Amino acid sequence: MNTSLGVLRFEPPKKDHWNTLETRYDQEAKSWDKKLRRLGFCEGYRTLLAREKISVSKDRPIRIQDQGIGTGEASLALVESLFEQGVKNVDMIGVDISNEMLAYAQQKFEQRTIPFRGVKGNIESLPFQDGSIDIIISSHVLEHTQRPLKVLSESERVLAPDGTLILMMTRCNPITISIQKEWFVQCARSRKLSAVLKDFGLRDLRWPAYPSSPICNWLSFCCIARRG
Ligand SMILES: C[S@@+](CC[C@H](N)C(=O)[O-])C[C@H]1O[C@@H](n2cnc3c(N)ncnc32)[C@H](O)[C@@H]1O
Repeated sequence: MNTSLGVLRFEPPKKDHWNTLETRYDQEAKSWDKKLRRLGFCEGYRTLLAREKISVSKDRPIRIQDQGIGTGEASLALVESLFEQGVKNVDMIGVDISNEMLAYAQQKFEQRTIPFRGVKGNIESLPFQDGSIDIIISSHVLEHTQRPLKVLSESERVLAPDGTLILMMTRCNPITISIQKEWFVQCARSRKLSAVLKDFGLRDLRWPAYPSSPICNWLSFCCIARRG
């Protein structure tokens, strides 16, 4: 499974890496937004998702699931862009292994009076019905998971027919090696990822750049796909 997205993963030095990831993210939660802002991702998520109009029906609440929501910046950017397009209601679910991250996300959605449900759990096994979600956003989390292919198969299962998957991932290059080493994440090569997503029945793949920041484009890429 280590090479499942096409690249090496630095092996965690400790056997309990997967158990302690939750604690590490709990500790990161307080400073996470600062980190995102410093690297340009708050602006990056907003400008990218404002430009990439995700087509949805506007006559009912849009069911959105953010996998590894963190402090909620990516899904807030998505929701803002949907509201700009005339969507009136969203039904927002954030999944994360970190309670602290979920608490920050919840606070942001509550401040904007956007309905939000936080679910603590591992995205390798999602407690949602088949075909129940219109949009999945997964931003810099797939590379953290122990079984990324299992996550993608779960995403495909819960996405409604014609639903959209928005995937942002750490790019594989010399600059991101320090991130890989710090977090033991796997990076993806877009050619391999493209083949994997198509195998899972996703189609109409597009790879928009972050319009606002070269740093975001060095560190990360985005792929948007639809469920066939
Ligand atoms: C790099 S952060 C990204 C946060 C957010 N999506 C963003 O773009 O700012 C990864 C997040 O995924 C969560 N996470 C990592 N592995 C996970 C898993 N297997 N299931 C659910 N959440 C996970 C972490 O707790 C953390 O909040």
